[in-house]
Amino acid sequence: MSFAQKLLSWYAENGRDLPWRNTKDPYIIWLSEIILQQTRVEQGMPYFYRFVEAFPTVEAFSRAEEEEVLRLWQGLGYYSRARNMHKAAKMVMELYGGEFPAAYDKVIKLSGVGEYTASAIASFSAGEKRAVLDGNVFRVLSRYLAIDVPINTTHGKKVFSEVAEEMMSAEQPGLYNQAIMDFGATVCKPRGPLCSSCIFRYECAALQQGVVSELPKKIKG
Ligand code: ADE
Repeated sequence: MSFAQKLLSWYAENGRDLPWRNTKDPYIIWLSEIILQQTRVEQGMPYFYRFVEAFPTVEAFSRAEEEEVLRLWQGLGYYSRARNMHKAAKMVMELYGGEFPAAYDKVIKLSGVGEYTASAIASFSAGEKRAVLDGNVFRVLSRYLAIDVPINTTHGKKVFSEVAEEMMSAEQPGLYNQAIMDFGATVCKPRGPLCSSCIFRYECAALQQGVVSELPKKIKG
């Protein structure tokens, strides 16, 4: 079985049931992904429900007063995220006639949406084969393949985005992206990874070489 196949079967058994995973609506997925940037799932969850309830559609969001958006955001920090969200909702009305896009090339144009968020939306919502690259993905792939290229360099990002694309499932890119993030969050953890019971324990290059705790590499800046 390939890496992707094993990961997908792990996810089928062990994946977390999170509210934004039961939809393909790109607007709902966008809300969840912006809220979850630099925010833990447990902390972000109540905010996710709050926003979905206050603004069930992107049109409702676009019409809100900025003050209300910031009030709902209170406690999450990084208020530029909330301001960009509001701007993005207005852009969806103007650029896309109120229909929140799922295609990578369209979502990436929205305020506050970077490569990670656009890949998440396009893969979860439209099934586009776009690999997400977040901290979890860097960690899992750098360990599984024992890649010691620093992840916080232009070269490193290029290497990892190529590797991530090669390793991902072509049939189920959305599920695969969810799976690798969950796997990194719950098994291949930054500290105290669960190597002895890991599904990849017989093939993980970092485990064979005894370098799990040294990966991923970063250069000090
Ligand atoms: N963190 C960021 N995006 C996430 C997602 N889709 N599921 C769980 N945690 C996440």
